[in-house]
Amino acid sequence: MTILIEQPPLEFGIGEKETCDDTNELVLDGGFMMPKLESDGKFAAPEINSFGNSFRDYNAESERQKTVEEFYRLNHINQTVEFVKKMREEYRKLDKLEMSIWECCELLNDVVDDSDPDLDEPQIEHLLQTAEAIRKDYPDDDWLHLTALIHDLGKVLLLPQFGELPQWAVVGDTFPLGCAFDESIVHHKYFKTNPDIQNPSYNTKNGIYQEGCGLENVLMSFGHDDYMYLVAKENGTTLPSAALFVIRYHSFYPLHRAGAYTHLMNEEDKENLKWLHIFNKYDLYSKSKVRVDIEEVKPYYLSLIEKYFPAKLRW
Ligand SMILES: [Fe+2]
Ligand SMILES: [Fe+2]
Repeated sequence: MTILIEQPPLEFGIGEKETCDDTNELVLDGGFMMPKLESDGKFAAPEINSFGNSFRDYNAESERQKTVEEFYRLNHINQTVEFVKKMREEYRKLDKLEMSIWECCELLNDVVDDSDPDLDEPQIEHLLQTAEAIRKDYPDDDWLHLTALIHDLGKVLLLPQFGELPQWAVVGDTFPLGCAFDESIVHHKYFKTNPDIQNPSYNTKNGIYQEGCGLENVLMSFGHDDYMYLVAKENGTTLPSAALFVIRYHSFYPLHRAGAYTHLMNEEDKENLKWLHIFNKYDLYSKSKVRVDIEEVKPYYLSLIEKYFPAKLRW
């Protein structure tokens, strides 16, 4: 299995995280791809993708760049304390659908990222590639294999059955609300028009929180991480606390990549963060050359689902 595992350096520019070795491009968790920054600050345009097709042209790449920036502009303006509270209240009702975990994996294949025509790998392959790569290196931690399989299922929020939320409310990096926006958050400049900036109680380092209060008490920007956490917890999963932590904070790059907001963590968070660091090395939106044989690995994952979840979940 060819999965790229090198931890990328901390000093990237703009929210890019994952490098594809043969295309020199960077991929956001939402499926947005971004050209890699060269040392002179210019973008290196990739010539071919991993399927051997040419990228369209430089203009297409700069278009994508604009798409990503526009995505974060909307995200940073609209994610507020009030918005997050409203969304959590709505989506913790779990009154949208009933289905098994595996059915949701299949449903996720309907999620198409219009912004990324070069990425033709079905979502289920990303999930299984991540899970299989971890399984190879951590064969005894079956809970982590299942965590990898389900970590992105919350992206079903993009589908009509789930309210067809806009991309800015589903994917991209996450960050706390109710305290100062850390400089390490991608495209930080767009927070200047976020209404929460006007509220002085939200603008100190701790904001409305106490130091060491634990991340579970911190409101995070709403997206597929928090939604899948709610689904797993409210349906009574027996997955360990580290699994729920990984699901809930895997897009919290300011924490797990830049080391921001650690003052809000408690002891349990610090333990769980070790697992999140491990997990994130595998959570590549890999345009992997190796395709996973879904039917071959399916029985294993069905057995894990049965071990840790009820047969049907409320979503
Ligand atoms: Fe994700
Ligand atoms: Fe992912």
